[in-house]
Amino acid sequence: MRRAQIVGTGMAVPEKVLSNADLEKIVDTTDEWILARTGIRERRMAAEDEALSDFAIPAARRALEMAGVPGTEVQLVICATVTGDMTFPATAAAIQHAIGAPRATAFDLGAACTGFIYGLEIADQMIRGGSIDTAVVVGGEMLTKFVDWTDRRTCVLFGDGAGAVVLRATEEDRGVLAVSTYSDGSLGDLIYRPGGGSRHPAPDPSSNGLNFIQMRGNETFKIAVRSLAEVSDEVLTGCGLRHRDVDWFIPHQANRRIIDAVGKRLEVPEGRTYVNIERYGNTSAASIPIALDELVRSGQVASGNHLLFSAFGSGLTWGAGVVRW
Ligand code: UT7
Repeated sequence: MRRAQIVGTGMAVPEKVLSNADLEKIVDTTDEWILARTGIRERRMAAEDEALSDFAIPAARRALEMAGVPGTEVQLVICATVTGDMTFPATAAAIQHAIGAPRATAFDLGAACTGFIYGLEIADQMIRGGSIDTAVVVGGEMLTKFVDWTDRRTCVLFGDGAGAVVLRATEEDRGVLAVSTYSDGSLGDLIYRPGGGSRHPAPDPSSNGLNFIQMRGNETFKIAVRSLAEVSDEVLTGCGLRHRDVDWFIPHQANRRIIDAVGKRLEVPEGRTYVNIERYGNTSAASIPIALDELVRSGQVASGNHLLFSAFGSGLTWGAGVVRW
């Protein structure tokens, strides 16, 4: 049976670290509140002259290097992001050019924090269907460029970075086993950024809030826990696995309390949930591929392990995937 196997992972984050203590100096917050309510200690922040491709390209290159796959063999590049370098062309096209993937299909995918799982589903389907053999899926975000630094409810949450995977066709009994994705646009006003699109083009960030992320965090929290647990359960059942078969639960890193609540509902075995939110904050579409890369490079993922990914974000969108390593 033809499947899509993850054969390489990579990540790249900005050098600048913004700690909770740094935030205490610019907004009415405390390290104690941020840590207790979110689990975040620090996050990475891109410099003024840095953009998504500055991190997405090295992340993709590192993933290709680990895979031992030359860029020339890549036929599909997906960049899951809502904060690409420009509105167009797609940041995926810049990645395609930089990795030397001649004429690969390349597009950006806007499913916010769930973008990596959406990208995984599309690449998996194209590989399974036989139209391509090799894909690069990047999840990357520069959200600190779009937060209101006077709004303590949002500015403490987000961080910048990119993660990537290389997927290849395999006939072995491993790879992506199941992916499910969903959306509910009736809840689009829970997390959004109004400016920069055709409704409010080129807003002036100094004169209004259109350029900034708006979020009703508390309402989002409750829906996130329920949706993540449901969709995770669905993908596990879909490939005949039980909760205790999960070797690593790699959730989107939005809030430590959400991760713990979902892990508890899913009865993920103790110590098998990967959490790095304390170091990166919420990097949206980047959080799962960054976490995966850290886990893989630290040697903690063994052949045959079952990995469960799940994410939730603006749209609303949500989804989950299961991979046999
Ligand atoms: O990744 C995409 C999906 N996004 C999410 O999943 C986010 C989900 N939501 C969350 O993670 C949490 O709801 C937040 C971390 C955003 C907020 O935590 P919360 O426990 O839901 O707090 P809250 O919004 O109910 O606010 C409680 C209090 C409020 O004060 P009052 O009105 O009770 O006096 C806030 O003003 O905490 C206050 N507060 C803060 N205090 C200090 C909110 N932000 C801060 C802050 N520092 N940074």
